[in-house]
Amino acid sequence: MHQESAIKVQNLVKNFGKGENLVKVIDNASFEINKGELVALIAPSGAGKTTLLMMIGCVLEPTSGEIWLGEERVYNNKWIAKDTRKIRREKIGFIFQAHYLIPFLNVIENITLLPLTNKISKKDAEKKAMELLEYLEIADKAQSMSSELSGGQNQRVAIARALANNPEIILADEPTAALDAKRSISVILMLKKIAIEQNVAIITVTHDERILPYFDRIMKIENRNIVFE
Ligand SMILES: Nc1ncnc2c1ncn2[C@@H]1O[C@H](COP(=O)(O)OP(=O)(O)O)[C@@H](O)[C@H]1O
Ligand SMILES: [Mg+2]
Repeated sequence: MHQESAIKVQNLVKNFGKGENLVKVIDNASFEINKGELVALIAPSGAGKTTLLMMIGCVLEPTSGEIWLGEERVYNNKWIAKDTRKIRREKIGFIFQAHYLIPFLNVIENITLLPLTNKISKKDAEKKAMELLEYLEIADKAQSMSSELSGGQNQRVAIARALANNPEIILADEPTAALDAKRSISVILMLKKIAIEQNVAIITVTHDERILPYFDRIMKIENRNIVFE
């Protein structure tokens, strides 16, 4: 199969602060991730995992370098797009350690919230949300409130929400940290299925050795650089 690039990073640098307070986090990193790949990102606490995800996700501005998302160069020593939020909305799905579902909305309302602000009709947004819930095997919870669901079920809803805009890239920051081994593996298998079937590139930050065998590649931050195992 032809391998299409989803994320290309070249000579990426990220420093925080200046002068005496300068903290170098990423120093001249280059790498590429293809569509359909499920990649683990592992490194010690404070090594820059969240910083790297947030730069790829167009949330945090790099210091210098280049970032391509699919065909589009989004960063070249400065943001190229005027509206980085639009790129985020259109191309990227985020999943966090905590599910951040809104407690007073039910499952389907949580999933359709963003698509509705994206000018998608209620009918289409709900149809898509139901398809995703079927796909993630929790359609029976569509009308439930987040508080009625288990940790693993809530994380599946968070995955459905991240998929609602058909993203090309999913960035997941320790999505299984709050789950036991069995549920963690089930979430990762779900991400694997999404990567393959929807041709999405997925980067998952994890500390969990038990789930590493399920990834296509393992990416590490070492000496402020990116290396693959
Ligand atoms: N907004 C910020 N200002 C200054 N330093 C920061 C900021 N965000 C992160 N850092 C520093 O950057 C480094 C990497 O942080 P982070 O990406 O959160 O690491 P990880 O996710 O791997 O634990 C840490 O040394 C952290 O203190
Ligand atoms: Mg982090």
